[in-house]
Amino acid sequence: MHVLGGSASTTLAERVSRELGNAPFAIPFRKRFPDGELYVRVGGSFEGQDVVIVQSIRADADLVELFLLQDAVRESGARRVWVVIPYFGYSRQDRRFFPGEPVSARAIARRAELDADAVITVDLHSPLNRGIFQRPLHEASGIPAIARLLRERPVDLLVSPDKGGVDRVRRMGEILGKPWIGLEKKRIDSERVELYFPPGGPDVRGKHVILVDDVISTGGTIVESAKLLRQRGAEAVVATCTHGLFLKDAFERIKAVTDDIFATDTVENPVERASVAPDIAAILLRELAIDPSTSASVSPNLRAEVARS
Ligand code: R5P
Repeated sequence: MHVLGGSASTTLAERVSRELGNAPFAIPFRKRFPDGELYVRVGGSFEGQDVVIVQSIRADADLVELFLLQDAVRESGARRVWVVIPYFGYSRQDRRFFPGEPVSARAIARRAELDADAVITVDLHSPLNRGIFQRPLHEASGIPAIARLLRERPVDLLVSPDKGGVDRVRRMGEILGKPWIGLEKKRIDSERVELYFPPGGPDVRGKHVILVDDVISTGGTIVESAKLLRQRGAEAVVATCTHGLFLKDAFERIKAVTDDIFATDTVENPVERASVAPDIAAILLRELAIDPSTSASVSPNLRAEVARS
């Protein structure tokens, strides 16, 4: 198996290859032509091989690079192409909200899976996203990676900033054996939200509260959630998310109202302290039917992860 790191996910791709017992890893050559077009080249032949391309879709250019890499890998004779899209951008437009709009998530998924035998992603935005793929889709979660870090710190209550994140926070609650709640969120526009505490919700006074979200984008959701929890007397508020986009001054604004903040490495960001590499590698091992207990080269970290799952 070979692992290729697209420019949006080089670090994570290398971590995945390490988790797979140092599977051959490469960063494709890329340059821009004078007219701005992207050029990529993958080294050597992949005749008969399983090739894993890791590339998050954060910016439009990431998509073009992904499509070119998929084509190059197919042209190089790969037996199977595994497309890992740790952060699947465009997933929030998972339905037509107004006439004339596309279902952007579906449009992107259809093209991304054209040259893929299977797609692996992490914490899709909503269950609707799962139905848009026609190829086999495997979804890892950032929740176990974040939970691994939270085991080392005080946690009294886990909080999802909205109802859409309740499944994730419930899962975190089950892993850590801690109570959880979902706040109520009203979105005003793409940058402004209002947060409400659920009627009859628990007393948060003096508690260490962990916010658990799938994506932090402008930071509006986390900032307003943290303020609400502080107003209600929380002693400490820690913000966590799977996909840390931290647009504009989001990072500074969140830091001002929380005690700590961390994210996974699905998107390169300043607080990527939890890695989803073992979770992605576990899916690849399972799908390729490699037994981690008999493969001496598989990392002990991953062996433990597969044993747990
Ligand atoms: C919303 O449904 C998501 O789960 C996130 O809460 C949201 O996308 C975060 O966006 P922002 O950081 O811009 O408030």
